[in-house]
Amino acid sequence: MKVLVVGTGAREHAIADALKDDVDLYCYMSKINPGMSKIAEFRQGDEGEVEKVAEYALENDIDIAFIGPEAPLGKGIVDELQKNGIPCVGPTQSAARIETDKSFMRKLFEDYEIEGSLVYKVFDNSKDVSEFLDEFDRDVVVKPVGLTGGKGVKIVGDHLKDNEEAKEYSCEVIDNVMGGFAQVIIEERLIGEEFTIQAFCDGEHLAPMPAAQDHPHAFEGDVGAITGGMGSYSDVGGLLPFLTQDDYDKAVAIMQETLKAIAKEAEPYKGILYGQFMLTADGPKLIEYNARFGDPEAMNVLPLLKTPLADVCKAIVDGNLDSVEFEDKASVCKYIVPDGYPETEHAGELIEVDEAAIEKMGAKVFYAAVSQEDDGIHLSGSRALGIVASGESIEEAEKIAEKACEFVKGNVYHRSDVGTADLVAKRVEHMKEILN
Ligand code: GLY
Repeated sequence: MKVLVVGTGAREHAIADALKDDVDLYCYMSKINPGMSKIAEFRQGDEGEVEKVAEYALENDIDIAFIGPEAPLGKGIVDELQKNGIPCVGPTQSAARIETDKSFMRKLFEDYEIEGSLVYKVFDNSKDVSEFLDEFDRDVVVKPVGLTGGKGVKIVGDHLKDNEEAKEYSCEVIDNVMGGFAQVIIEERLIGEEFTIQAFCDGEHLAPMPAAQDHPHAFEGDVGAITGGMGSYSDVGGLLPFLTQDDYDKAVAIMQETLKAIAKEAEPYKGILYGQFMLTADGPKLIEYNARFGDPEAMNVLPLLKTPLADVCKAIVDGNLDSVEFEDKASVCKYIVPDGYPETEHAGELIEVDEAAIEKMGAKVFYAAVSQEDDGIHLSGSRALGIVASGESIEEAEKIAEKACEFVKGNVYHRSDVGTADLVAKRVEHMKEILN
């Protein structure tokens, strides 16, 4: 079977790595990913030029295309590939609205009475925003309705001082048509612990993966700018130290109801559904959905797959997905990023990655926003590579991942607290306080 992976980052590297032993692998990527280029045939090109991706797929008789990032999904890459007879792991443009149109997503919860929603409103003018916020006595989260590459969401208490600043930012979102909509969505700010559940979906059936927790803040102790994610962990049993089986099952039930609703309101959803939840005193609430694997969370779960990913892809496109098995292990992923990140002051610089030493330690490297050139691996402004380890406990996986990070040299840093016993205990304590 010939499988095409579209995308260039660590998430796509993890997908490609999970497929490589069972398929003839092809990649379409905007930058030359040092890991993917070693294990696949590839073409360098803009992943958003969907007709060109389809041409490449046809030239190579691709059997299944796996779409990594959200931007091509928003541009209808799956519709284009399907029009050319190529089945995909990834939703059509209309089903991908679960991520690309947040007002569609919230309305789906309302119309189909799906549990786990929250107080929200969509606005298209500053007067209504002001009136609402003058009356609303809790902190809010301000979101552009469309895609903004993870940079548009601002939270009162994090990026915004108070609801007055939320008003100003809301107007900016509307006036600048951020994310492609002259609208803004304002939601209540939830209090709790965030967690992620990712699921394989074949349009009707859903196979959930182990839960994971990402760390969006740039620096240790959960301070600094909100980033794309500095690292993540998953635990044995597929749960998290603060997440019970009941919480997990409730979150999966919300995803299952959503899958049914998308099929009715748009089209059957085939691909990966990523649910970002907040565990609150009232149970899991949905913060947002993504129409693709999480980054870094893909790196936690894909190396633990026992069912071959190639078989899962086939079942997704054929519509006969059954349960998917994972090794019962914990995992820790640490992202190595350029010094100063999320600023881009070291873009273009060379780094050294001793892959052999990292692998000898039992860890894996997944390359992200770097590019392979003749003289070596160059940083861009963004996250450079994920180091992932698994073990019998989070503690064991963390120690391996942390040690492996020493084998990356250059102007880079990582959060050494991700997955440590202290930080995990803080999460558990926080959740206990909320529940009491
Ligand atoms: N971990 C955040 C994301 O994948 O969007």
